[in-house]
Amino acid sequence: MIRAVRYERFGGPEVLDVVEVEPPHPGPGEVRVDVIVAGLNPADYKIFDGTGADRHGVWPPAGVGHDFAGIVDEVGENVTRFAVGDRVYGGKRADALADFVTIHEDDLLLPLPEGLSLDTAGALAIAGRTASAGIDRLAVTAEDTVLIGGAAGGVGVIAAQLALLRGAVVIGTASEANHEFLRELGVIPVVYGEGLVDRLREAASDGITAAFDTHGGAETIDAALELGVEISRVNTIAARGYRDAEGAGSVDCSRDDLAALGALIAGGEVTVPIDSVYPIERAAEAYEYLMAGHVRGKVIVVTR
Ligand SMILES: NC(=O)c1ccc[n+]([C@@H]2O[C@H](COP(=O)([O-])OP(=O)(O)OC[C@H]3O[C@@H](n4cnc5c(N)ncnc54)[C@H](OP(=O)(O)O)[C@@H]3O)[C@@H](O)[C@H]2O)c1
Repeated sequence: MIRAVRYERFGGPEVLDVVEVEPPHPGPGEVRVDVIVAGLNPADYKIFDGTGADRHGVWPPAGVGHDFAGIVDEVGENVTRFAVGDRVYGGKRADALADFVTIHEDDLLLPLPEGLSLDTAGALAIAGRTASAGIDRLAVTAEDTVLIGGAAGGVGVIAAQLALLRGAVVIGTASEANHEFLRELGVIPVVYGEGLVDRLREAASDGITAAFDTHGGAETIDAALELGVEISRVNTIAARGYRDAEGAGSVDCSRDDLAALGALIAGGEVTVPIDSVYPIERAAEAYEYLMAGHVRGKVIVVTR
């Protein structure tokens, strides 16, 4: 038997149980991954609390998670791209928080490049793809000053660095506790909340040209529009439709784009801080922490 995090009814982290289930085996074209790291995302709890279940097509009884990294330990018939022993990372909806996951080799599964740790790779599939698609959608260049709402979070911290790599000036909203960290990355930190527009005017004397809202609500979008950013250059992943702001999310990023981001991280050009690490038995606690809304980078669960 293997361990898997599952739930029988919608609810908060208290509905999550670590249960013993039969080990899965790969079908044709699939591999089985011995999961070492599983990264947590807000989408996971929006699914198990029911609010995002229809959107993602997952209803209880179900498994939890998406992002993972580990080692291929079984291959099914006709698998050509992976072999037993390969270190891999990727994502599979509602399955990743378990000792093993099976996945088709053509789905979101990538070889782990030299220099990319399992911890980081296991936390990359959703946040990395979303950040990459978000910055692409804004077509950020060295001419831009980009506002990132929620610049220290999982998506925000990657997006901020991708914009910096394109030569843009990046202003990121965050609580004071994250300011020194953001400064070290090259981001100009600004506290979110009341008075934001004035602080942004001061921080960006030449104006802001694009904005990426990763937090939701009105604030980043309102501030960007008030400062003259065109709506076509406002991307939101958490307040879609608000004042006609739309944007790219994880589904708009290809496997090749994720591989390119993995290579940037492996090469030391992008950093993804691991905020905290929980053993799989404490997955519910890990989600409680994530849901409190103030992580720096990513929260991961480990199986060993
Ligand atoms: N559509 C998609 O494809 C897609 C994909 C990924 C994520 N999302 C959504 O995007 C959102 C962010 O995801 P994530 O993984 O980056 O979440 P996360 O890692 O939990 O991000 C939390 C961050 O939000 C910041 N924050 C808290 N209150 C804030 C406020 N009032 N204003 C600005 N920032 C604030 C926190 O900064 P401080 O600690 O400094 O307070 C923290 O760094 C979630 O709603 C998620 O569901 C959508």
